[in-house]
Amino acid sequence: MEHALLILNGPNLNLLGTRQPEVYGTTTLADIEELCQQKAKTLGVSVTCAQSNHEGALVDLIHDARGQYAGIILNAGAYTHTSIALLDAIASVEIPTIELHLSNVHAREEFRHTSYIAKAALGIICGFGAQGYVLAIDALVAHLNKDT
Ligand code: DQA
Repeated sequence: MEHALLILNGPNLNLLGTRQPEVYGTTTLADIEELCQQKAKTLGVSVTCAQSNHEGALVDLIHDARGQYAGIILNAGAYTHTSIALLDAIASVEIPTIELHLSNVHAREEFRHTSYIAKAALGIICGFGAQGYVLAIDALVAHLNKDT
């Protein structure tokens, strides 16, 4: 295994599949995690998936990633639009982090157009549903391999 990646999902994403399917689709979080494992296998990397509804727990998981993971894919859910603590956590650990959203947040309510975590993110993927996680793994691995 060349790289270890952490896929971190925030609040309400445990409800995927039944949560506003017209916005987020019918794919469950377990389906997404399986999709990520399959993609990781094809690229020879490992992925670990975690989900929490709690801001502080997400901060802890980001801290704990230091020295363990080469990259993070973070769907911070609504905390994206509110959390300076998550921004600071990502900036502190200096692990390349992709901000991800299932929906195209820019086509939605005004309050979703602001991202606190974007400032510390390597890049942002949004609007591609579950496929976005696969795209993010591709992008992160390409980034990690670019200097090797
Ligand atoms: C989301 C978009 C956020 O605005 C929202 O609060 C979510 C999910 C997405 O994946 O599209 O919980 O991050």
